[in-house]
Amino acid sequence: MAQAEKLKIAVLASGSGSNLQAIIDEIAAGLLPAELCLVISDKPDAYALQRAQKANVPTKILLPQDFASRADYDAQLVQLLQAAKVEVVALAGYMRLVTPTLLNAFPQRVLNIHPALLPSFPGLHAQRQAFEYGVKVAGCTVHFVDEGMDSGPIILQAPVPVLDTDDADSLTARILEQEHIIYPLALRLLAEGKLHIVGRRVQIDD
Ligand code: GAR
Repeated sequence: MAQAEKLKIAVLASGSGSNLQAIIDEIAAGLLPAELCLVISDKPDAYALQRAQKANVPTKILLPQDFASRADYDAQLVQLLQAAKVEVVALAGYMRLVTPTLLNAFPQRVLNIHPALLPSFPGLHAQRQAFEYGVKVAGCTVHFVDEGMDSGPIILQAPVPVLDTDDADSLTARILEQEHIIYPLALRLLAEGKLHIVGRRVQIDD
């Protein structure tokens, strides 16, 4: 039987790229029916770029200072993504806000991972925000991206208990372990056509 078409994914990353690595590993293990077509970073020294190169995934660097506006930056992103025939864009530690220029080119096809149980603690340093607030349960969220800050429809969440022995760093590390599980899983559900956005809610087929 012919193999089903694989979902063509691009990852945008600004940092270490451990979520990117989780996606690379799940594809390599045959657990995520996707092809990673392109990794793009706004930071030339992002370790994510090295991870991609090691996995023979093409990379591009787009420097924000080379563009007059965020929309111009995103227009160039869209050009690169469309040239690579990308269907889904996964933000993985990508530290720029995206504009309607990108979102309109990939409607309901841009995902993000956030290191908190949204809608609590959107924005930067979410793990530290949660720790300092004193929550007993932290966690992470994969969601579709909309024009707001970490505000799009939620796909999956994983809770992480905060221990009395935790500091912000140990909590961050345990949240990251869960991110590496739920991000590839969310992409797999998307690749399998099992995600349906109904209003604000994402329904998941069995
Ligand atoms: C992850 O914890 C991700 O959730 C977070 O940055 C880290 C990137 O790690 N993203 C955000 O805070 C986005 N607002 P990684 O580069 O090792 O995947």
